[in-house]
Amino acid sequence: MAEKKKTPKSSVKKLESDLKAIEDQALLYAKDLARIFAERKEKERQLELTKHQLARSARIALLGEIAAGIAHEINNILTPAVGNLSMLLMHRNSLSQETVDRIELIEKNLMKASSMLQQILDFSRKMPEKREPTDIGTILDQSLSLLQYKFAENQIKIKKNLHPDLPKLRVDNPQIEQVFTNLSLNAIDAMEPGGTLHIAASYQVEKSARKQPYVQILFEDTGCGMPPEILEHIFEPFHTTKHKGIGTGLGLFICYGIIEKHGGTMDVVSTPDKGTQFEIRLPVA
Ligand SMILES: Nc1ncnc2c1ncn2[C@@H]1O[C@H](COP(=O)(O)OP(=O)(O)OP(=O)(O)O)[C@@H](O)[C@H]1O
Ligand SMILES: [Mg+2]
Repeated sequence: MAEKKKTPKSSVKKLESDLKAIEDQALLYAKDLARIFAERKEKERQLELTKHQLARSARIALLGEIAAGIAHEINNILTPAVGNLSMLLMHRNSLSQETVDRIELIEKNLMKASSMLQQILDFSRKMPEKREPTDIGTILDQSLSLLQYKFAENQIKIKKNLHPDLPKLRVDNPQIEQVFTNLSLNAIDAMEPGGTLHIAASYQVEKSARKQPYVQILFEDTGCGMPPEILEHIFEPFHTTKHKGIGTGLGLFICYGIIEKHGGTMDVVSTPDKGTQFEIRLPVA
């Protein structure tokens, strides 16, 4: 039997449906391509961030070593100087009141400098540690209860949002308490009365198999924030914007080191006049 001849109408229909199929396929490819580009962009962003964090970590470690070396040398000079002043004061009866006052003032200032240097030395000598499974919420409460008067005095509110089922972490309790205290004090300094410090902790399980689950702790204030040029250096030793005698610029340097020693990471984002958020990640062993 002779093949039925296609009408022009049916060939148009066939061509239209072919075209539609090609368009659908092209759309799928385009979507795939867009997803691949987005993934690539995200990976590039992560790579940049990791490179930046590594460079910062190396810079802080180097500055820490230099600071410890200098602290050691200066402390060797300060210790006998303080000793000699104490000896002079043993003969205070043969000295005028003005001389005694001046010697006491010098002694007080030298002791202050010495205790500052001691902080760096203790830290760089890797203070003895006692890591035990500990509840992060309990450490946070210890730290906040000691600072209660400071929060009240400065009219700062605290809002806590801790995940109820946080796993215990193997940490050195006093060291982590020191981190929470430093972050709280900085937040208080950065805020006007009426400000709020939000503290949150949650359990995070990374999707990627290589990454360990961790507890994320956030300290977020509604304070003055920082411009990028300050933000870049805040973890370095002696970097402070506070008045002489108020800040030493060692707080965050020590916090950073403590968290690193615990195998964690510490990061910060800040917007001038809006506030600052510190993020700590501590691995769940
Ligand atoms: N929450 C914050 N908001 C705004 N700026 C901050 C905040 N935390 C830290 N900073 C900035 O980072 C600097 C370094 O902080 P860091 O705690 O190391 O030292 P410090 O507070 O100046 O002195 P101290 O050694 O007494 O802690 C501060 O001087 C301040 O400029
Ligand atoms: Mg501080």
